[in-house]
Formats: sequence, C-alpha cells, structure tokens
Amino acid sequence: MPTNVPSRPPTSAPSRNAVTGMLLAAGVLWLTTAAADPAPVDAAAIPQEAVAALNKISGGPHAGLRANHAKGVMVTGHFEAAASASSVSKAVHFGAGTPIPVLVRFSDPTGIPNLPDADPNASPHGMAIRFTLPSHATTDIVAISASSFPVGKPEEFVQLLRAIGDSGPGAKAPTAVDAFMAAHPAAAAWAHTPRPAPESFATLAFYGVNAFKFTNAAGLTRYGRYQIIPLAGEHALAEAAAKGAAPNYLMDEIRTRVGTHPVKYRLQVQLAEAGDAVNDGSVAWPAARKVIELGTITLDGTVQDQVAEQKRILYNPLSLTDGIAPSEDPILLVRPAAYAVSYLQRAN
Ligand code: HEM
Repeated sequence: MPTNVPSRPPTSAPSRNAVTGMLLAAGVLWLTTAAADPAPVDAAAIPQEAVAALNKISGGPHAGLRANHAKGVMVTGHFEAAASASSVSKAVHFGAGTPIPVLVRFSDPTGIPNLPDADPNASPHGMAIRFTLPSHATTDIVAISASSFPVGKPEEFVQLLRAIGDSGPGAKAPTAVDAFMAAHPAAAAWAHTPRPAPESFATLAFYGVNAFKFTNAAGLTRYGRYQIIPLAGEHALAEAAAKGAAPNYLMDEIRTRVGTHPVKYRLQVQLAEAGDAVNDGSVAWPAARKVIELGTITLDGTVQDQVAEQKRILYNPLSLTDGIAPSEDPILLVRPAAYAVSYLQRAN
C-alpha cells in the first residue's frame, strides 16, 4: 500500500483518491463533510450499516455482486492434513487420511466490480476456502492477505467505512478519514503498511486474522489464527510492472497456472499464549508464537461457470465443525450477518 494513502480498510474500501475517481465515474455526488465526531453506530444494525457504507464507497449495489470482494475467481483442489494437525484440533479434516475437496475463491476487496487487480486498493486480497468433509458437511476459512485488521470493533469498522464514503473529492481537510485516523493510530499504521501487488495469487500469503478456539481429542483448547503460506514463496511485482499489469492479471493468471501445475499452500495455525489479544484482530501476536502445520492445500482445477458459482456460494467464517469454535472477537461474530445482508442483496 502506498504511503500516500491516508486510510483503507483491508476488505472493503479504496483510498480516498481511488474512491474519488471511482465514484465520480459512477456519477455519485460527493459529500463535503468536515471532520467531526463520527455519528454513533446502532449496534443492532451493524450488518446493514456496514453493507450500506460498502455500497456507498463502491457506487453500488452492483447487481448480482458482493458488497465487498466483488471481483473474484474460483478454483478447485484438495487439502491433505499434516500429522501435527490433530494435536491442535479434532476437526475431521485435520485428522483425515484421505484428501478433502476444497473450493476456493480469490478476490479483490471493495464492491467495485472492475477494480484493476494491481490497483493499490485491490490489496489486501481475499482467499475463501470451503472444505467438503467426508460426511458432505462443509466448513470454511475466509482470509485476507494481511495479518491484522485495521480496527478491533465492528462499530469502528462502520465508522471507518462511513468516513471513507464521506471523504471523496471536494472534502475539506481534515476529512472524516483524517479525523478517524488521528483517533485510531493502529488503523493509520495499518493503512500505511506497504502491500505491493503480488506476482500471482499463488505467491501471496493469507491470514485468518480473527482467532478461533481449537480443541483436540484430549480436550485441550487453545486459541489460534490461520495462516496460509504459498509454497512457491511470496513474490510481489516491481512498481513499474504493477503499473503495466493487465486489469485482470491475477484472476486470469491463477486459472492458467492451476491448469499447468498444482498451486500449493501450507495451512498452519499460530497459537496464542496467555495475555495475547485473542478477541481483537487489529492486534498481531508476536512472531515468536508457536506455529503448527495443519496440512497442504493443493489447487489444480478451475470452476467452469464462474459467474453462476460465485453468485451461488456464500462463504461464512463461522461455518465450523467439531473441534473448531469461534473466539469472542466481536468482528468475527458479526461477519456472518453482514455477509448474509450482502448475499440477500446480490441473490436476485
Ligand atoms: C466487521 C467486519 C467485516 C465486515 C462488515 C465485512 C463485510 C463483508 C461483506 C459484506 C462481504 C461480502 C459477502 C458476500 O456477499 O458473500 C465480505 C466478503 C469477504 N470478507 Fe469481509 N467483512 C468484515 C471483516 C472481514 C475480515 C476480518 C476478513 C478476513 C480475515 C474478511 C474477509 C473477507 C473475504 C475474503 C470476503 C470474500 C469472500 C468470498 O470470496 O465470497 N472480512 N465481507
């Protein structure tokens, strides 16, 4: 992410400059709001308020498309558990001796349908994974290519989204975004973390960000966060290459790549220790925390009818299975409701 971007939430909002251009193009009139105390957020209406704010930022809603992570591509493959996985969780796919089918959707954030893949606002990217268990039940992981979130509370996320929506062209400095960042230094630091355009989705690491409670067969429960590490290594485009990249280079490349040779990631979990912030995805845990390998994700096929399948599927970070339970992280707990609001909006 370039340092001149004042703020940008990972899963949703483009920078003020990009939003400006996009909304002007979409013919949306821009509010010139002076920085002021943010309006209170009705806690009971957070899912609706979040989707409304996401719609505003992207000039949406856009028919049939997600309010966030609208642009995506789906591929298929399988997961094979590592021997160490069952020490963390008794979840059936972590103890399975046979490959577990996976259905993966890579995405660009925001509700903007045609956001260029190398645009600074297209990062962090998304990776959503559906595992089909031997019982035919499913469980999901929904991750982004950033190891933390800009804020820890759903109310703050709605305020950030609203601030971005109110800080477009013509907004006088200090804008609502400037004010938000001044009041939330962790979000400002997050927004200024460089996130260069990746060479490929196959060379990008993804993170679950929110913690889950993992319980093994002996009844031992520990908090952990998913990490999805590309076996091809992490590689980004140089700035000039990013500027010249085709608008859909990531979406097109991964479909070609999986048809040529399998794309692999190591799925692992970082375990919390006493005192770690297990209910706040804006706080990264120390890098020295123990990481346990859960297994290997191999992607080697594509989905034929991309439009229909992307429209049909609703990934849900709380679609879990025995051995994995939610933490009390309020952002994690509100996500399924917000995703459902978006799903209802895009289902027709
Ligand atoms: C309060 C916080 C959040 C809100 C309100 C929110 C909102 C949304 C919405 C409305 C969608 C579209 C859902 C659909 O139509 O299927 C979405 C998708 C997505 N979100 Fe979030 N999100 C939040 C936090 C997060 C976090 C913490 C992560 C990652 C760790 C994340 C990763 C993703 C990804 C990867 C997708 C695309 C899923 C797909 O491919 O279908 N989100 N989010």
